[in-house]
Amino acid sequence: MESLMRLLLIVSGSVALKKSFDLLNKLKINKRNIDCIVTRSGLSLIKSMKIEDFKNIKIYTDDMQLKDNNRMLHIELSRKADVVLVYPASANIIGKLSNGIADDLASTTLLASNKQIFICPAMNVEMWQHFSNQKNIAKLKKNGVNFIGPIYGNLMCGETGLGRIADSDLIADEINIFFSRKRLLSGMTGIVTAGPTIEPIDPVRYLSNYSSGRQGYSIAKVLAYMGANVKLISGPSNLMPPTNVDTINVLTAKEMNEAVFDHLPSDLAICAAAVSDFRFKNFSLEKIKKNNDKSFSLDTNPDILYNIGNSAQKRPKLVIGFAAETNRIKYFAKNKLSEKKCDWLLANKISKTDSVFGSEYNSIHFFTKKLYEKWPKMSKILIAKKLNNKILDFFE
Ligand SMILES: Cc1cc2nc3c(=O)[nH]c(=O)nc-3n(C[C@H](O)[C@H](O)[C@H](O)COP(=O)(O)O)c2cc1C
Repeated sequence: MESLMRLLLIVSGSVALKKSFDLLNKLKINKRNIDCIVTRSGLSLIKSMKIEDFKNIKIYTDDMQLKDNNRMLHIELSRKADVVLVYPASANIIGKLSNGIADDLASTTLLASNKQIFICPAMNVEMWQHFSNQKNIAKLKKNGVNFIGPIYGNLMCGETGLGRIADSDLIADEINIFFSRKRLLSGMTGIVTAGPTIEPIDPVRYLSNYSSGRQGYSIAKVLAYMGANVKLISGPSNLMPPTNVDTINVLTAKEMNEAVFDHLPSDLAICAAAVSDFRFKNFSLEKIKKNNDKSFSLDTNPDILYNIGNSAQKRPKLVIGFAAETNRIKYFAKNKLSEKKCDWLLANKISKTDSVFGSEYNSIHFFTKKLYEKWPKMSKILIAKKLNNKILDFFE
């Protein structure tokens, strides 16, 4: 179903702009409800690449503002919109917004905006990693601007690294979720765990797993869109913490368990972290040498999901666990559901050919005490949305 929201799309000077047509087709919004500002550099790239015009979308440029001095386009466009999307976002436009520079229609409108802003950066890896770009991004994130991407991959400039614009499917999924959000979880509190834990053996080595944290981060983001007050307790992850979510960083399973119990009680807990089952019994203060004894003793780590589900005083109303299994998925998932006393369990199958870890996509086997559903493969943000719909039904 098409949204009735209005979108202000700001297109800046990156070659990734040729993908905007693909994105526009995936957004559940009528083109008539989209206004678009193209920067001067954006326009020159559009011309040099001979990209066809954006059909049915009203385009605004600096020249239009200069021609009509009586019209405050920057205020008009920002007030009309429900959401502002900068796609693609150059390092330049990010820098301008972060530093309060308003010297053309796009940057003035961004500065004048009183709406949620989503930024989809696209740039060379060195530009992305540059300390001044990172400083600009950190400042914007701290002030509630949402970033989608960039991702790692082949860049338009021929280099490889972090800086590629996020896939249009993922951006469209996230914007469509934002369009359809209803702040039905306002006043509710939720804890989400995400990422791996790491268990050190000496000052330079540790035991861990491949979890990226993406599923938990997506869940935390969607819960926050719905108005919940979210604590995201995360093991080490390269992902940017979601906006409007309170992120608490931990390293080990013990630290994660303590952080969870420090933040309980809460209305719901979702344990998406891949917690290491074991830790080394003896931590060596010195780096262990090659010719040392190779046998290590392990201790069992706290079972966070079990502790939450079985807590007499602090059990949330809804406890949701995750399981990653390589085989007998239904059998292990059902056992885990009852043993940990969680209400729902989302299991995924890990195999050599289909690693869920690090991927943007996941396919879920969903279990409750009475119900089993197999969800088709979809983006992790859409899984978060589907789970969120079930959470809304539960608390209704
Ligand atoms: C062919 C070409 C491709 C470019 N691609 C990018 C890019 O992907 N990301 C970026 O940040 N800047 C890119 N630039 C540089 C920007 O266009 C330049 O910084 C410009 O001032 C951005 O202006 P704007 O933010 O007002 O659109 C590119 C420049 C050219 C000529």
